[in-house]
Amino acid sequence: MTNFDLYNPTNYIFGKGQIAKLSELIPKNSKILLAYGGGSIFKNGIYDQVKSALSGFEIVEFGGIEPNPRFETLMKAVEIIRNEKITFILAVGGGSVIDGVKFISGAVNFEGDAIEILKKRVLFKDVSKVIPFGTVLTLPATGSEMNSGAVVTIEATQEKLTLGGSALFPKFSICDPTVVASLPKRQLENGVVDAFTHVMEQYLTYPHDALLQDRFAESILQTLIEIGPDVVKNPSDYKLASNFMWCATMALNGLIQKGVPSDWATHMIGHELTALYEIDHARTLAIIGPNLYRVLFETKKEKLAQYGERVWNVDGKSIEEKATQAIEKTVEFLHKMGMDTKLSNYTSDYEKSADFIVDRFEERGWKAMGEKQNITLEKVRQIVEMSY
Ligand code: NZQ
Ligand code: ZN
Repeated sequence: MTNFDLYNPTNYIFGKGQIAKLSELIPKNSKILLAYGGGSIFKNGIYDQVKSALSGFEIVEFGGIEPNPRFETLMKAVEIIRNEKITFILAVGGGSVIDGVKFISGAVNFEGDAIEILKKRVLFKDVSKVIPFGTVLTLPATGSEMNSGAVVTIEATQEKLTLGGSALFPKFSICDPTVVASLPKRQLENGVVDAFTHVMEQYLTYPHDALLQDRFAESILQTLIEIGPDVVKNPSDYKLASNFMWCATMALNGLIQKGVPSDWATHMIGHELTALYEIDHARTLAIIGPNLYRVLFETKKEKLAQYGERVWNVDGKSIEEKATQAIEKTVEFLHKMGMDTKLSNYTSDYEKSADFIVDRFEERGWKAMGEKQNITLEKVRQIVEMSY
């Protein structure tokens, strides 16, 4: 096992009715920016619960944070915070609103042009320089409620870029699984597949000696396979919703990646497909993931075979046979979860994508991705073309 630091200061508050605790969690006398997305919170009662829990606080509202939040929109909130002397931000939404708030939190006191935060991937380490924030999660998927990373799109240049740093963990996150009941089918499917792929990025590498992390990862995958299709059919079933929410958090709160290698190339390629075609994040992962496993078969086959045996109970005769079956099982699961796994299912303009992505990665110097730094630009091209 490699050395690690495990730091996660987010106060994670889980369960039915927990939104009522908001007034205890936000410092007294705070002036709050209540940030939300396109308005789903007005239809499902979450806004009303938040407002009643916050009676007595001074609140300024900021709505309209898009799915795949835009730098241009977020900068409007940065201005409001500076002008209104806001002292605390509350993100009420899914990964996009939470990620947007992480960016806003860091940008308010950032010296220089805030676009550099994304272009230069600035790391925020000093909590005294960011605006503190908490979250009310409305969509289990990204794990953003308990990690310090975020993804923001620059509309002007169609770039989807990441930011983060230890100062950007939420102070608290309220995770009430009853919010799952109002999610559209498409978002439920997305949530399960995003969480599933987060585990795969940190697990599906090569054999190592971190035995417990492997078991953690496999148990999250098994739970998602067990509940995923059912939670889409019955999102108001509390048992299903609560397990879904907890799996999604555990998939990307940092725990399973400690002491192990990780990949993340599926995400890096997937982000480009969202930037190009506005395909939902999880769906880009379903397009790319299986083809990445195919192209990197030699690198990943031992771990694929372990995953096949332990998670899918495959019983092939050789490592190669088990690994191949594991990929097939994964694709079947993605289809069962409502994913189309070909780029041509989403756009007819797919042929430009390989050149576009390879050029972008070359400009950024991303020429050696993956757990063994062997995902070259040529392999990226192969993966993307295989996904047409
Ligand atoms: O905007 P509103 O009106 O709230 O509607 C949203 C949005 O249209 C809707 N929704 C959310 N909760 C709902 C609901 N509708 C009904 N009932 C509810 N309870 O769902 C739609 C999608 O929301 P969004 O926040 O975009 O989805 P998700 O949570 O999947 O977040 C995706 C974003 O997170 C990034 C992705 O790249 C993408 O930009 N990621 C963030 C990560 C992180 N911070 O660690 C890691 C991930 O890999 C991912 O990259
Ligand atoms: Zn993801």
